[in-house]
Amino acid sequence: MSKEGIVKLKTYKIAVLGGDGTGPEVVAEGLKVLKAASEVTGFKYETTDYDWGGDRYLRTGNVLPDDAADQMRQYDAIYLGAIGHPDVKPGILEKGILLKLRFDLDQYINLRPVKLYPGVETPLKDKGPNDIDYVVVRENTEGLYTGAGGVLKKGTPDEVAIQESINTRKGVERCIRYAFEYCRKRNKRKKLTLCGKTNVLTWAFDLWERAFYEVAKEYPDITPDYAHVDATTMWMVKNPEWFDVIVTDNMFGDIITDLGAMTQGGMGIAAGGNINPAGVSMFEPIGGSAPKYTGLNVINPLAAIGALGMLLETLGEQKAADLIDKAIAKATGEKMKSMSAGKMGYSTTEVGDLIADLVKQG
Ligand code: IPM
Ligand code: MN
Repeated sequence: MSKEGIVKLKTYKIAVLGGDGTGPEVVAEGLKVLKAASEVTGFKYETTDYDWGGDRYLRTGNVLPDDAADQMRQYDAIYLGAIGHPDVKPGILEKGILLKLRFDLDQYINLRPVKLYPGVETPLKDKGPNDIDYVVVRENTEGLYTGAGGVLKKGTPDEVAIQESINTRKGVERCIRYAFEYCRKRNKRKKLTLCGKTNVLTWAFDLWERAFYEVAKEYPDITPDYAHVDATTMWMVKNPEWFDVIVTDNMFGDIITDLGAMTQGGMGIAAGGNINPAGVSMFEPIGGSAPKYTGLNVINPLAAIGALGMLLETLGEQKAADLIDKAIAKATGEKMKSMSAGKMGYSTTEVGDLIADLVKQG
């Protein structure tokens, strides 16, 4: 309370990184929905645009300014479109922007809900929204993604390439702990599945397994469960209803969430968040920059809009997040024909308008 007795509302500062390809288009629709949600629920925000991405790199030769992470630390959240440019060699932008920000901002959780909304087609036979509704907690700063390793005798017949998986007790435990907390808060089936490969990766996943069952003792209300990653992909197709929350390492999490995305209707609807629970988090549609659809007003913005919902939930704006979730469900269930680019029965901007209107209707 201020001296005058008036509650001063916090103004959220949001950095907007539209990025490459269709990124800026889908983010623009998300921002429409942000405006609508703020009008309905009353929170305040301001956005700042950044041009980080492939075009800037081709123009300047720089992927990111040196103080990029420091700049981002001044915000309450980051809203990202997509990174990846057809004229830039694969890896440069992905590593130089996306992974760099995840690492520098210590966003050690990659939270990826696998949720089939009503009316959305899934390739899984006889499965519906009640069956496909779980969340993958992917470790986001370690594993095979740290760049540890190296190459010897490159280009010769004796070439040696080593890419090591880094797993620290601290890094693994904080991820597992987050997953248990998340599972408790989600309050659904109250089951947490560790997805690993203890039968082969006996060093790394022994650490994961021990940490998992030790932390599990602090959460007697949660059923701890284990599945090898290969079996996990099988159950994700055959019995997705068995899952509630899955926790796994960076590489396995990357792979299984693309599978998960396909079961929930494709990249057009799959959202995710790179989360630092004590810092600044970054939300993004998990699909790529889709260069062939750029500028055509056909790409599905729902993944970006879902990511915005996750952003608001993380900021504590639960009511706004719930309204957005409800609006997406109504749009998929009653309005849109398909989740695929060009087949939605609506253009990109029309989907944004539709969701904004539904949010305003409550
Ligand atoms: C993802 C992407 C990234 C990853 C790439 C673009 C570096 O596939 O967000 O899942 O591997 O994490
Ligand atoms: Mn991926």
